[in-house]
Parts: sequence; structure tokens; C-alpha cells
Amino acid sequence: MVEVASASQADIDWLARDDASAGKAWVSRCVALGEYLVAREAGELVGFLRFSRFWGRVPYMEMIRVLPGHRRSGVGTALFLAWEAAMRGEGARLLMTSSECDESRPQDWHRRNGFSETGAIELPGLQSVPEVFFIKRLA
Ligand SMILES: CC(C)(COP(=O)(O)OP(=O)(O)OC[C@H]1O[C@@H](n2cnc3c(N)ncnc32)[C@H](O)[C@@H]1OP(=O)(O)O)[C@@H](O)C(=O)NCCC(=O)NCCS
Repeated sequence: MVEVASASQADIDWLARDDASAGKAWVSRCVALGEYLVAREAGELVGFLRFSRFWGRVPYMEMIRVLPGHRRSGVGTALFLAWEAAMRGEGARLLMTSSECDESRPQDWHRRNGFSETGAIELPGLQSVPEVFFIKRLA
């Protein structure tokens, strides 16, 4: 059974390893601000969701990752649904996320969770392909 919770100080080393591109200082900052959810199975960390807020108010899912051996068993969905419920509880009307334009599998997964594509931006010097943005309206 998967359990989803807000990340705590004790999760920082694991997150810094598994979300390495964020860097440990950023991981610590996000944990302190409650911007990480973690998933556990049998007490072991198996995935995380990191978010921020576009314009300081629109919830923006920056990264969701489930350990390879634990994929396709509902962990990602549990993380996403917990985040969506928390954001709805804060009064959010819209969720955002994004993905590199050639990453078709994560994009299919975002669509499956109710997101629709809303545009793309080029990031010269940072990324060789455009970043595609997705939104999901919350009723
Ligand atoms: C994308 C990701 C988070 C999904 O997590 P997951 O735990 O494997 O997904 P779930 O098991 O909750 O998926 C639920 C459903 O989506 C389907 N699904 C899973 N991964 C999918 C994918 N990449 N594309 C399309 N459908 C997918 C599953 O088959 C399942 O459907 P079913 O219930 O009909 O069998 C995970 O595959 C992952 O960590 N990928 C690598 C990192 C990544 O690409 N992150 C997203 C961009 S930031």
C-alpha cells in the first residue's frame, strides 16, 4: 500500500540523491516550505513530487518521479491525487506542469491526469528542445 505525506527533514538526503538536479540547498528549501510530497511503500521511499507556485500562487508541478522498480503500480497517481487535493484545499483553481517537448511518455501521463497542452516556450542555452506547458482547471 502506498502512503503519501509531506516530506520532512529526515527525507532530505534521499531527495537530494534522487532529485539530484535540484541540488541539496534547493531540496532543503522546498522541504522547509512544504513543497515536496513523498510516497512510501512498506516504509521505504519510492517516489516524490516537487512543486512551486507560478506567480507565487498557481501550483506548478515541477517534478514527479517514481523509482523504476515501483512504476505502473499507482504510486505516481497517488502522489498526484494527494497534491491535487492539497492544492484544491488551498483554494487553487488551476494546476500547471510542463515537460520537454520530446518526452511523449510523461506527457501522456499528464494528459491521463486531466492536463491539457497550452503552449511551449524555447529556452535557448538551457534546453535544446522547447518546454511544453500543461494546465488543469479545477472545478
Ligand atoms: C511518470 C511517472 C511519475 C508515473 O508514475 P507511475 O507510478 O509509474 O504511474 P501510475 O502507476 O500511477 O500510472 C497510472 C496509470 O498511468 C499509466 N502510465 C504509467 N506511466 C505512464 C506513462 N509514462 N505514459 C502513459 N501512461 C502511463 C499506467 O499504466 C497506469 O494505467 P492503468 O492504471 O490503466 O494501468 C513515472 O513513470 C516516472 O517516474 N517516470 C520518470 C520520471 C518522469 O518522466 N516524470 C514526469 C516528468 S516530470
